[in-house]
Amino acid sequence: MSAPRQSSPPPVLEAESVSKSYRLGASLVTAIQDVSLSVASGELIALKGPSGSGKTTLLNLMGLLDRPDRGVVRVGGVEAEGLDENARSDLRRDQFGFVFQGFNLIPVLSAAENVSYPMALKGVGRQERRRRAIELLESVGIGHKHAVRPDLLSGGERQRVAIARALANGPRVVFADEATANLDSHTADEVLGLVRRLNESQGVAFLLATHDPRVVARAHRVVHLHDGRILDQAP
Ligand SMILES: Nc1ncnc2c1ncn2[C@@H]1O[C@H](COP(=O)(O)OP(=O)(O)O)[C@@H](O)[C@H]1O
Ligand SMILES: [Mg+2]
Repeated sequence: MSAPRQSSPPPVLEAESVSKSYRLGASLVTAIQDVSLSVASGELIALKGPSGSGKTTLLNLMGLLDRPDRGVVRVGGVEAEGLDENARSDLRRDQFGFVFQGFNLIPVLSAAENVSYPMALKGVGRQERRRRAIELLESVGIGHKHAVRPDLLSGGERQRVAIARALANGPRVVFADEATANLDSHTADEVLGLVRRLNESQGVAFLLATHDPRVVARAHRVVHLHDGRILDQAP
């Protein structure tokens, strides 16, 4: 008689056989082709591949910013394809954080107000938002810059604000697209050390699209994309 099967928790995030093409004039460009990728809770994954290999497209699909032509994305076991845009945007707000290459900070807001913004979307009260924003900025080492606007911050400081903002609503997964590309190597190292610490202390999973070898060296798992397909998944 076989032992009863232990039911393991579903992955925090999962893509199953997703494909995505873009129409470019008369032709169809296949950006992602039949990709399956499972992200466990607290995992730090580097998504590596040459320019044009489909990294950004895959982040957009798994981050529910875009929909696949075929295949499904599941968030905590829930299939996102069947959900309407409102439900998808709620999932993004509650479970995901995003760090983009250009930081995408709001220039007229202070660092703390930028970090508060996602909490405001969730209806968190003003006092609590401010308290938590400053706490998050402290956790990324720039609490003393909470009142400063992005244009007066260095690249590394802006990146830290963007990370603090990505963590504002206690996400289960943070997506980062070429997040170290605009940073000098010392700053990139600091930011990566920070990502690793947050990953370990808070159990947040990170999906980092990159061709930066320093990012790859710190990942738990490296996923190689080439021409829209996964080549191999080194531990
Ligand atoms: N909006 C778009 N319209 C047309 N083609 C696109 C679009 N976005 C990406 N592509 C194409 O899809 C492929 C994958 O692009 P992308 O996901 O941006 O790769 P990466 O992030 O690895 O550089 C490339 O061939 C790119 O030119
Ligand atoms: Mg890209």
